[in-house]
Amino acid sequence: MIRKKIFLAFVVISTVSLLLHHGGHLESWTMEAFYLGCPVLCSLPSPCLEPKHTHVAFLKTHKTASSTMQNLLFRFAERHNLTVALPIQSCGHQFCYPRTFTSHFVHPHTLPPSIVTNHMRFSRAELRRLMPEDTVYITILREPGLMFESLFSYYNQICQSFKRVPNCSLEAFLEEPLRYYRPKEKDAMYARNTLTFDLGGDKDRSAEDVGYSRAFVAEVEQAFALVMIAEHFDESLVLLRHLLSWDLEDVLYLKLNMRTLSSKRSLSPDLSAKIREWNALDARLYDHFNASLWRQIAAMGPACVAREVRLLRKHQDQLVRNCFGRRMPLMRSASQIKNKDLRPWQPNAKVDIVGYDLPANLSQVTSSQAQENCLKLIMPEVQYTQLLLHSQSLLYRRNFQQRTPQRPQTPKLSVRSVLPRRPPAASPQGPGSGPGSTSTSTLRPAGGTQARGAKPGQGSSPTQAL
Ligand SMILES: *[C@@H]1O[C@H](CO)[C@@H](O)[C@H](O)[C@H]1NC(C)=O
Ligand SMILES: *[C@@H]1O[C@H](CO)[C@@H](O)[C@H](O)[C@H]1NC(C)=O
Ligand SMILES: *[C@@H]1O[C@H](CO)[C@@H](O)[C@H](O)[C@H]1NC(C)=O
Ligand SMILES: *[C@@H]1O[C@H](CO)[C@@H](O)[C@H](O)[C@H]1NC(C)=O
Repeated sequence: MIRKKIFLAFVVISTVSLLLHHGGHLESWTMEAFYLGCPVLCSLPSPCLEPKHTHVAFLKTHKTASSTMQNLLFRFAERHNLTVALPIQSCGHQFCYPRTFTSHFVHPHTLPPSIVTNHMRFSRAELRRLMPEDTVYITILREPGLMFESLFSYYNQICQSFKRVPNCSLEAFLEEPLRYYRPKEKDAMYARNTLTFDLGGDKDRSAEDVGYSRAFVAEVEQAFALVMIAEHFDESLVLLRHLLSWDLEDVLYLKLNMRTLSSKRSLSPDLSAKIREWNALDARLYDHFNASLWRQIAAMGPACVAREVRLLRKHQDQLVRNCFGRRMPLMRSASQIKNKDLRPWQPNAKVDIVGYDLPANLSQVTSSQAQENCLKLIMPEVQYTQLLLHSQSLLYRRNFQQRTPQRPQTPKLSVRSVLPRRPPAASPQGPGSGPGSTSTSTLRPAGGTQARGAKPGQGSSPTQAL
């Protein structure tokens, strides 16, 4: 009897392990998740059980990996035919930052929106007027020491407070910040409590005013469903994905808008402490939301989050391989990038922002559709914003002119114009048929068919738009 039981147990174990080994990584992931008691996750091939949230307001803060998030949201919007609120031309590619956001800054061809992500100074009331009621608000913070160092080097030829400092010395600035800083001056928001300012707060409130700081943290907590932390970007993405019921594919990314290593420096503990003191409001915000991120991770189960982070990175690698063959896109400083459309914006000659350039013969590796998707993965924010505005405007005009639905025509400003030449017969079954190419046309104008979970009437109806 006991022997029989042992034999049965053996059979069961062998069968399970066989299934695990032959079931492919996603099934085994599901099984592992099951054993760990992880929440049910949306896996790649099978769609999520819950509809995806498609109304998202992402407050893009400065120098916080937020360009990477913006790129991710742009691609999500395109794949799901969602309208992205974009700035009017006179605002540039930001919503007239540093002025406080108002809906007058939104281009009428991008109304009513499902997603908003371009830089702005946050105003909850104005965003509520613009966005659907069920919009999920998200933002991202970065450790104040590293962030300030980054702002200091990025804006040191733009921001007067930094320009006054002899030898562009961060140490000299922090020795006597009030000697160089003028609170009311243009671009002063880059020189003190930039996160607080971007979130709509008072950057010059005294650090002793604990009441203000506490109330402000509470306000941010109430407004945002998730505050991501740049130092824990992938973990934050896992939380985001669960919050919004998105697929793994929806949160794949490549890092954008970084400085070259040579223009980065490490901070001494002393310098870091001085920065925190000078940016006390930001430091309180960061500490609060870093702690709350880790509480959320603990609640989900650190092992589950870690596992999903590994899964994310694995698919990321696969996406890069599918897009760019064996070679990574070439990481280059902006001045070296041959393709103008891929050149990131340079604040000054001293800081070198890196971007990606495509290998000259990428075209031989992937299909044209996959190429477009791959290109968007590395397209800098200014160019991508222009491209989206163009495609959304075309759709808007077409809807406006003829109410009867028509087949979308190919926009004139095509992403193809920035692609390297490729031979006419690209293999449809090329290596491009991975996660990067599973989406539908990236060039379809936004606002057409609604994605799962989108409410009727949230498309870009021109009558609603004006
Ligand atoms: C987006 O729109 C295109 C063309 O209008 C359509 O073919 C596609 O199925 C739509 N995708 C989604 C996710 O609604
Ligand atoms: C600026 O830097 C130069 C060379 O590093 C140094 O000789 C000079 O003393 C510095 N000036 C100040 C005001 O720190
Ligand atoms: C963020 O919180 C985690 C968990 O408490 C901690 O280990 C980490 O040091 C914090 N990061 C910073 C930069 O303070
Ligand atoms: C692509 O270009 C690289 C370097 O320019 C070269 O080494 C490689 O052989 C080329 N591959 C093909 C398929 O032409």
